[in-house]
Amino acid sequence: MEIELLPPSADVAVVTRIAELVNQVYAESEKGLWRGTTGRTSADEVAGFVRAGEIAVARVAGDLAGSVRIQRLDEKTGEFGMLAADPARRGAGIGRELVRFAERTSRDAGCREMQLELLVPREWTHPSKQFLAEWYERLGYRVTHRADLAEDYPHLAPSLATPCDFLVYRKALG
Ligand SMILES: CC(C)(COP(=O)(O)OP(=O)(O)OC[C@H]1O[C@@H](n2cnc3c(N)ncnc32)[C@H](O)[C@@H]1OP(=O)(O)O)[C@@H](O)C(=O)NCCC(=O)NCCS
Repeated sequence: MEIELLPPSADVAVVTRIAELVNQVYAESEKGLWRGTTGRTSADEVAGFVRAGEIAVARVAGDLAGSVRIQRLDEKTGEFGMLAADPARRGAGIGRELVRFAERTSRDAGCREMQLELLVPREWTHPSKQFLAEWYERLGYRVTHRADLAEDYPHLAPSLATPCDFLVYRKALG
C-alpha cells in the first residue's frame, strides 16, 4: 500500500473517484442520520481540498483504496476527516495507515495535537458509529467536547433525520 498527499494539480478523474468513494461509504456509515439522499461531498468540494493540499490517498497496486482530508486547525492542532476506505478492502489496515499518515503529517508540520469529529445519533446506537468510537479510542483518541449538532450548526438542523450529537476527539501527538 502507498499513501501520498495528492499534488494540487491532481487529475480530475482521481478527484471524481475520491468524491464517489466518500459518498459511497458515508451513505452506509451515516445511514438514518440525514433526510434525503444528499451526498457527503462533491467532486467540486474535493477539488478545492486537493488544491489546498489537504487530501491524501492510499493506493494498492495503483488503484485508489482510500482517502482522508488533513487540515491544520491552528498552530498546534491538526485535524483529519472524510476518512474512507474501499469497502472491498476493509480490514486490511488502509484506515489505520491513513490515520497514521495524517498524524505524522501534522506532527511533522509542528502540531502537538490531533482532532477528529464524529456525528452520532443521540437516541439509538448506529453500528458504524459504535465501531468508529471504539476504534478511535483504541487509537488513543478521547472525547473532549460533546454538543447538540443542531445547536453548533443550526443550518444543518433541517437536514437531520434524527437528533444527533457531535463529538470532538483529541489525541496528543507524541
Ligand atoms: C473507518 C474506515 C476508514 C476503516 O477502514 P479499514 O481500512 O477497514 O480500517 P482498518 O483495516 O485499518 O481496520 C480498522 C480497525 O477495525 C478492525 N476491523 C476491520 N474490519 C473489521 C471487521 N469486519 N470486524 C471487526 N473489526 C474490524 C480492525 O481490526 C482495526 O482495528 P485495530 O486498528 O484496532 O486493529 C472504514 O470503515 C470506512 O470507510 N468507514 C466509512 C466512513 C467513515 O465512517 N469514516 C469515518 C468518519 S468519522
